[in-house]
Amino acid sequence: MTIDQLKQQFEILFNQQALEGYFCPGRVNLIGEHIDYNGGLVMPCAINFGTWMLLAPNEDNVFRFRSVNFEEFYETGVQTAYQKTGREWYNYPLGVLHHFVSDNKTVKGLDVLYYGNVPIGSGLSSSASIEIATAYAFNQYFKSGYSKLELVKMAKSVENNFIGLSSGIMDQFAVAFGEEHKALMLNCDTLEYEAVDANLADNVLAIINTNKPRKLAESKYNERVQECQQALEALQQELKIANLCDIDTDTFKQYEHLITNKVVQKRARHVIAENDRVKLAAKALAQHNLAEFGRLMYASHHSLQHDYEVSGAELDAVVEYSLTDTNVVGARMTGAGFGGCAIAIVKADAFEDYREKVINYYTGKIGYAPSVYATTISDGVHELID
Ligand code: GLA
Repeated sequence: MTIDQLKQQFEILFNQQALEGYFCPGRVNLIGEHIDYNGGLVMPCAINFGTWMLLAPNEDNVFRFRSVNFEEFYETGVQTAYQKTGREWYNYPLGVLHHFVSDNKTVKGLDVLYYGNVPIGSGLSSSASIEIATAYAFNQYFKSGYSKLELVKMAKSVENNFIGLSSGIMDQFAVAFGEEHKALMLNCDTLEYEAVDANLADNVLAIINTNKPRKLAESKYNERVQECQQALEALQQELKIANLCDIDTDTFKQYEHLITNKVVQKRARHVIAENDRVKLAAKALAQHNLAEFGRLMYASHHSLQHDYEVSGAELDAVVEYSLTDTNVVGARMTGAGFGGCAIAIVKADAFEDYREKVINYYTGKIGYAPSVYATTISDGVHELID
């Protein structure tokens, strides 16, 4: 859908022209998985898929949230608080609105239309994309005076307290602060970050969507968060640490016996090793050592598969194939897992060949085809200028 088509849709649906437009991307995480809620280092980047949002004020002082992707829509008056209603998509903008009014920000009714091309539930942060698009747009339109970091924290709170997923801050941060051709080295404990060159030389960043419907992903995600909390409490019997990522693998080996539950011990092992890998990956990227970066991606996947157990036959099949293809520098699952997407760094001139072969391998093993795209690393949320 082009922006002009979206504007036309807006006129058809709301009988008036859109006044402002915004875009917020989705994200991939290059490395540093399931460690944002453990105070770790992550390396996400914003991508050229995302959510477009058009708005205009209305006479009726009501919020009308519509999307061209879904039939369901929501309409509500201006209230002092809102509650999650069902499991529909519009809970994300509703949660953002709730946070604005709870913070006593003045808002007035708006007609809002969204269009997203981030595959939903695919691990590319379609939810952070719509949250940040909405928070950023409201902040601009109502002149509410939030900083971008405050909007990021608000969107995380929408996810945690309105939607009910105990997620970390990586996704909202990445889609808000992303920069073209850069990966964000984000310390999820201090929220300090650096935009580093994601120099992929003559390679492209491929996204392989397993097209596996994510079932139970939310409860499994929250279960992992709790397991990490248990591991932390066990280690805190002897170590003065606030987060699992405050220690490295060598220290962990000395104290891992404190965690008596073997499953919980494995979870902690992943978290701590993954944090070490991000440090090495940052070094490798700075030294243009893509081969080492790729090795770390594979190691990350292995750890997510065996110690953290958030992969699955589908994501593993993508990585299994990638390991056999000499045109692939590295591959791994990205995002929460349990289905969703994998990423691979692939020689640009061999991308079509890779695409065909990974589709064949995957289809043979899993029984249906994945979707494979080449993506570019893009800017974070911004207003659309005519
Ligand atoms: C989801 C969450 C993030 C992060 C990743 C896993 O995308 O929203 O906060 O925990 O999973 O790294």
